[in-house]
Amino acid sequence: MILRIYKYGEPVLETRAEPVTEFNGELRRLAEDMFETMYANKGVGLAAPQVGVSKRLAVLDHSAGEDEAAKLVLVNPEILVKEGTQIGEEGCLSIPGFREDVKRAYRVRVRAQDLDGNFFETEGEELLARAIQHEIDHLDGILFLQHLSLLKRDLIKRKIRKLVKAGEWD
Ligand code: NI
Repeated sequence: MILRIYKYGEPVLETRAEPVTEFNGELRRLAEDMFETMYANKGVGLAAPQVGVSKRLAVLDHSAGEDEAAKLVLVNPEILVKEGTQIGEEGCLSIPGFREDVKRAYRVRVRAQDLDGNFFETEGEELLARAIQHEIDHLDGILFLQHLSLLKRDLIKRKIRKLVKAGEWD
């Protein structure tokens, strides 16, 4: 099922999400729906708060559905190691129409649980590392806007306020 994507301005996006404690069918279904929603919107990652669920769950696929092995589910993820830096353009399905350069670590090592609750570690670099950092930020209530200069952030917020007024942001 394709879920509604919550947009900037909805409090759930700026709230620290709760750890997942129950690894059941409901969690599995939510992850499936999140993949479907992400693919339908051509995203490379989606975090549960973006579909209005304040839980520490994110799905990623930097192959855009081309490679089954690229599907990654992160439950209760934690970044163990960050190395290097990269600057690249980033967007967010919750802030459609806006893309900006964001500085991130080049490589990350992450510890997380899978949908059965088993712990695992994984690594990513470049686009995958960027996506992982972006999605884990979502679980902490942080949007990519917070990585921009105050000037750029205010400019985007002003543009969004105009879209809200025009009824073009819901
Ligand atoms: Ni996002």
